[in-house]
Amino acid sequence: MARRRIIAGNWKMNKTPSEAVALCAELKDLVKNDAVDVVYCVPAIDIVPVVEAVKGTNVLVGAENFYIEDKGAFTGEISAPMLKDAGVTYIIIGHSERRDIFGENDILINAKVKKAFAAGLKPILCCGESLALRKAGTYTAWIRRQITWDLDGVTADQVKDLVIAYEPIWAIGTGETATADQAQEVCKMIRDLIAELYDAATAEAVRIQYGGSMNAGNAAELLSKPDIDGGLIGGASLKADFGQIVNA
Ligand code: PGA
Repeated sequence: MARRRIIAGNWKMNKTPSEAVALCAELKDLVKNDAVDVVYCVPAIDIVPVVEAVKGTNVLVGAENFYIEDKGAFTGEISAPMLKDAGVTYIIIGHSERRDIFGENDILINAKVKKAFAAGLKPILCCGESLALRKAGTYTAWIRRQITWDLDGVTADQVKDLVIAYEPIWAIGTGETATADQAQEVCKMIRDLIAELYDAATAEAVRIQYGGSMNAGNAAELLSKPDIDGGLIGGASLKADFGQIVNA
């Protein structure tokens, strides 16, 4: 079964609402590709204008964060039902910046995955090791633990709709990309883990992205690997290069 490629931009804390609309206009013709899911994951305040700006195009909108309660006294937070109602399809969960800077742990991340599915959003679940773990050679065990905890209580049918992004922390925003073989090794390991936790059909269906300094120059090689079904792209999603990655 061929898995559909998914190329997602992670805009992070960049682009004001008016800049976001301008970027959508700049990328509009460059990201046309009906064979690929194209997603812009944007800051919360950009969601409404970006949903409007991509209407009638092939682009889907994603969010970068939310809180696990539906509503209530949680000053400053937004909920999954709010995102859904605003037109969001995908939601990034467990990004290393949220884990490291904002202290999100696997218990919260697991709750977010379940809440996202309950609200009708599709999670892009991120995992990945630090440079120290890569050097120590223990990165496989680390990633297995992350995914096993993050998917606790998540059903096989849900996992078939899940996207997992393997993002080695040492490659994020550093210009140092994992080699295609390094990325493939971990993406295959993740797929094998899904087969172990669920079954072969679920492992075959789950889509796995690579993320970390993916750009117009290295995307084609990374995406040629059998277990890499797409990319989660930070820096290069904010410029015309993103169109080249979509069409790599
Ligand atoms: P980068 O970010 O492409 O700028 O390395 C990727 C990410 O953090 O999702």
